[in-house]
Formats: sequence, C-alpha cells, structure tokens
Amino acid sequence: MVLPLLPPLLLALIFSSLALLAQARLSYDYYAKTCPQFNKIIQDTITNKQIASPTTAAGTLRLFFHDCMLNGCDASVLLSSTPFNSAERDADINLSLPGDAFDLLTRAKTALELSCPGTVSCADILAAATRDLVTMVGGPYYGVLLGRKDYRVSKSSSVAGNLPTSTMSMSTIIDLFASRGFSVQEMVALSGAHTIGFSHCKEFKSYIYNDTNYNPRFASALQNACANYPKDPTLSVFNDIMSPNKFDNLYYQNLPKGLGLLKSDHGLNNDPRTRPFVELYARDQNKFFQDFAKAMQKLSVYGIKTGRRGEIRRRRIS
Ligand code: HEM
Repeated sequence: MVLPLLPPLLLALIFSSLALLAQARLSYDYYAKTCPQFNKIIQDTITNKQIASPTTAAGTLRLFFHDCMLNGCDASVLLSSTPFNSAERDADINLSLPGDAFDLLTRAKTALELSCPGTVSCADILAAATRDLVTMVGGPYYGVLLGRKDYRVSKSSSVAGNLPTSTMSMSTIIDLFASRGFSVQEMVALSGAHTIGFSHCKEFKSYIYNDTNYNPRFASALQNACANYPKDPTLSVFNDIMSPNKFDNLYYQNLPKGLGLLKSDHGLNNDPRTRPFVELYARDQNKFFQDFAKAMQKLSVYGIKTGRRGEIRRRRIS
C-alpha cells in the first residue's frame, strides 16, 4: 500500500482532486433529459408527506446528516439489515431516526421508479427531498448538485464515533466535523438544524435536575415532560421550544437564555470557539440562512460516489 507513505499535503491534494473529479460529473439539471419529472415528483411527495406528518422535515434532515457523515451522502443509511449484515440504520444512535423519513424515501423512490425506471439514485432523492423540506418549513433554498450514486456497503459497526452525540465534549464535536473538512463556523451553522424537530427524553434527562445551564422554569417544565420516562421511552420535547415547526434563528436566541435542550446545544453557547457564531446567528437570521445554505451544499457533496463507484438501487432498502 503506497498511500500511507505519502506526505499528508500530497494526500490532501489527491483527495481534493478526487472530490473535484466526482463533482465534475454532477450537475443541477442531471435528470433534465432522463427524468424530466424529477423535481415535480420530489415536490409532490414531500408536500403530501409533510402535510400528513409534520415531523417529516426534521426527521429527513437528520437522516440526511447521518447518511453524509458516515462515508458520504450515498444513501447507505437507508439500507435494511439482512441475516448476514447489521446495517447503519440499526446502530444505536440511528434507532431514533423516525419512520416517517424512511417512508418518505420509499414513496419518492416508488414514484420515480414508475416514471423513470433505474434512473434516479436514492442518494439524490434524499439530498433533493431534504433541501425542499427545509425550504417548505421556512428555511433557505440552496442548489443541490445531482448525479450521486448509491452505495451498497452499510455497517452498523462503523457508526460509533463517527456521528456526534449530545454527551461529546465540544472539542470532540469540533474535531469530528474538522476531520470531514468543516470549520467551527460551518459546524455551528449546521447545528442550527435544531431549530426544528425534537429530542427524546433519553438524550437530556440526566441533566435537567442539577445543570445550571438550563433556565430554572424550563428545567422544571422538562422534568414534567419527562416524568414518565423511562416507562415511556417515546417521550420527547421540541428542540426549539419558541418556534418548533419553523426554520428560523430562534434556536440561537434560545441558547443564552438557558432554553437549549441538549448538553451539546449548551456547549455551543459556552465554548469560546463557538459562542461568537451563536451570537452572530442569533442577531442576524439572513447570515444564518446564507451560512446554513452554503454548509448544506458542502455537506451534500461530501464523500459522494459517482460513475462505477456506486449504483442506482432499484428499491430504497436493497
Ligand atoms: C453538532 C452536533 C450534533 C449533535 C450532538 C446532535 C445530536 C442530536 C440529538 C441527540 C438529537 C435527538 C434525537 C432524538 O432523540 O430523536 C438530534 C436531533 C436532530 N438533529 Fe442533531 N446533532 C448535531 C448536529 C446536527 C446537524 C449538523 C444536523 C443537520 C444538519 C442535525 C439535525 C437534527 C435534527 C433535524 C434533529 C431533529 C430530528 C427529529 O425531529 O426527528 N443535528 N440531534
């Protein structure tokens, strides 16, 4: 094996050239000729699903993030386990990914297979659906390059340590994003995704009795909300209690008021490396939207497979 012997700078150069090469094969209108209904089918599917199940947008955004962070945006998180392989989605941290997000992908894939069989990858569907759902709940629109392929390898054993958890230190979270090429500012902007969706009591229960980061009235409301946990492990609370269903910058405004939900949310406000960006985005929603959109564009091409490195899967799950 020659690669490990190469100097790090040369390695970085090789990897960034490979990434550019992969991106060169992508385009915004990749399906214009082969599946002209692509955008309409995605739009119709996400609109129907989000209206029927308003938790879909947040669930899909988290699903996309978890797919991309682990070896790239290649739809490997959508694969089901088999008797011979325990897939990513069965790793502990992914068990809380909501069924509605997977269902959305099944619906979109089925509709696209009917219109343009064997043409559109699940990875492109997930990237475009996420973008459209973010816009639908009030967030910024951003261009998504298309032409990613799906990847067949999906192992639950590769997940641990590659996705951030709420109990990680801020240094570990910063390092995790940095190892994928994301700056501290990009990480803080992406974390603004917690302006929608919810977290299960399991994720914050142990802090709400004695952690001074919480506003005392908020802490007692959380104690009430989670009183029946762990008897009822489905109990959960909105990530942004001020405007839970709207994509806005209130998530950042909440943090200095002690209205953050997760330990990692408080961490963003407490750490001197991240706090300036929390303050910036709390003051300026336009800046948050611009930076979130740019970071999502960057995330959406992270580690993608093109050409023969991937395939167009026939079904979402196999
Ligand atoms: C910075 C480190 C991060 C940590 C430690 C973290 C951790 C978590 C945790 C523990 C939950 C609760 C899951 C549950 O109980 O169901 C959650 C929810 C969520 N996360 Fe993150 N997250 C991080 C960054 C991100 C990023 C970068 C995105 C997207 C770009 C994101 C999107 C979401 C969304 C949308 C939800 C709500 C999911 C739902 O309602 O189903 N998170 N996150």
